Amino acid sequence: MSKPERTASPADISREISRRDALKTGAAIMAGPALLKVHADSDPVKFGVIGVGSRGSYLVDHLAHLDTGRCVALCDVNQQALDDTAKKLTTNPKKYKDYRELLADRDVEAVVIAVPLYLHFQVTRDTLQAGKHVFCEKSLVFKPDEVHLLRTLAAEHPKQVLQVGLQRRYSIYFQSVKKMIDDGILGTVTHIHGQWHRNPGWTMKEGGKGNPKNWRLFREFSGGLTAELASHHIDVADWYFGAHPEFVVGVGGLDFWKDGRDVFDNIQLIYSYPGGRKFMYSAITTCQHLPILSSQRPEFGLVIMGTAGAVEMTLGSDNAPPTALWFREPEPTTLSSGPPSTTASASWAQVGPQKGIPIITPATQVDWQKDSFLARESKFARRWLYDKGIMLPQEDRNPVDTELESFLSDVRSGNRPRADLEVGLADSTAVILSNLAMDENRRVYFKEMETMGVAPPTPPPAPPVAATESGAPATATAATAKPAVPAKSTKAPVITKRAPASTKASDPLKP
Ligand SMILES: NC(=O)c1ccc[n+]([C@@H]2O[C@H](COP(=O)([O-])OP(=O)(O)OC[C@H]3O[C@@H](n4cnc5c(N)ncnc54)[C@H](O)[C@@H]3O)[C@@H](O)[C@H]2O)c1
Repeated sequence: MSKPERTASPADISREISRRDALKTGAAIMAGPALLKVHADSDPVKFGVIGVGSRGSYLVDHLAHLDTGRCVALCDVNQQALDDTAKKLTTNPKKYKDYRELLADRDVEAVVIAVPLYLHFQVTRDTLQAGKHVFCEKSLVFKPDEVHLLRTLAAEHPKQVLQVGLQRRYSIYFQSVKKMIDDGILGTVTHIHGQWHRNPGWTMKEGGKGNPKNWRLFREFSGGLTAELASHHIDVADWYFGAHPEFVVGVGGLDFWKDGRDVFDNIQLIYSYPGGRKFMYSAITTCQHLPILSSQRPEFGLVIMGTAGAVEMTLGSDNAPPTALWFREPEPTTLSSGPPSTTASASWAQVGPQKGIPIITPATQVDWQKDSFLARESKFARRWLYDKGIMLPQEDRNPVDTELESFLSDVRSGNRPRADLEVGLADSTAVILSNLAMDENRRVYFKEMETMGVAPPTPPPAPPVAATESGAPATATAATAKPAVPAKSTKAPVITKRAPASTKASDPLKP
């Protein structure tokens, strides 16, 4: 077996970046923010990609087909990944191994970030400070202090677009189901089930923690299954419920993979939303069965359950795009002439196979003016197959294309992305608190994030001790004593652990 490439461990990479900060200071300051340039609406957005591993290179594949953008730069600490991804492009992108050099490149207007989670905040912060627009993969940030810091920092850069890679927000099916919920077609949605079941899921590559390719398997760099998988469905639950959870409980186990990883290999989470609504989530690594959509799809999907109906849905993949089926809730049947064995006064509901109703998208709607005879016939045939349950209706486009196209368009128009900063921060908050709930085996309230990673306000200095006429220090009586805790401070919260980047005088990329 060939030895995996081992350039540096994730911790080495962090240290190296800090060391280089000082060296790059001069060049970056000279370069200054690139956003100041004015671009015509029709100019393709010149973008760079930082982190061209598995996801970054996948995004490059999709971006390469969009004529509203032009990839002018790539960055990765791994030379092989850099070279392989550059070869896919016809735009001859500049190649950087240090992301700060890419940020200092005046040609780059927008940056797509697909580095491991533990680096998201640092690279996003530096990108904003370099004056560029940001598309950062989910989960947006990793630690509680980063939630607060990024909110503050983004507010200082209101003209820059910040989008998070939560692509379900860009799916026509997911948007259609949101509309069904908002229009009351499903009644009151009280419960949502989400699952992402894999077998085997992530495996440990040679080199253990020292191999940067294993970053997902270690808590120092990764939020585990919650960050990598659950984050997508938690975001849908927030969106569909139109709220954030009040609390989360969960059980996580490292029960089946004894390969040195320290993240859970199976998680079960329950989120309680206002009004008693619940989102139940499961991620396992021992069976990929998906018991919805007639089991025609594997691994991941959602069931949206309302008092008047339910929807089964999944985002799918490049080869099996998003789909959804709608099930009407049967009218409750009360026993009046039920089976003889049924106790009088008990009620029973008739249970039988239920047929899902395909949710039709514009792709399968017949346009009598525009569609050719063949196009019409093909649409009728597809709808007949959907109706018979032989074929699932599918979205005609991968939402990853839509999210990237939307990002480039928002960069030009200044519009707010669907998956914006607050969507990303709420999602990251849920990830962080879910992991805490499983680690501490307790009910974790979402309010806790308000103070997590934030230092308590500094108490004002003690008032000088006034001497009495006799020269003895005055002692406060219960009646005159001031409260030990000052009245609520109106000052902005102080973030612990790190100084906000924007106040770092030495930061090379500060505009
Ligand atoms: N939205 C989605 O559906 C989706 C899917 C997969 C991954 N992701 C996210 O994308 C991110 C990357 O995941 P991945 O699977 O591509 O991981 P990966 O390990 O395959 O790729 C990460 C890349 O970043 C590079 N890198 C590390 N440190 C760097 C630095 N300082 N500067 C430049 N490059 C650096 C690595 O060399 C590697 O090539 C993660 O946050 C993940 O959650 C999102």
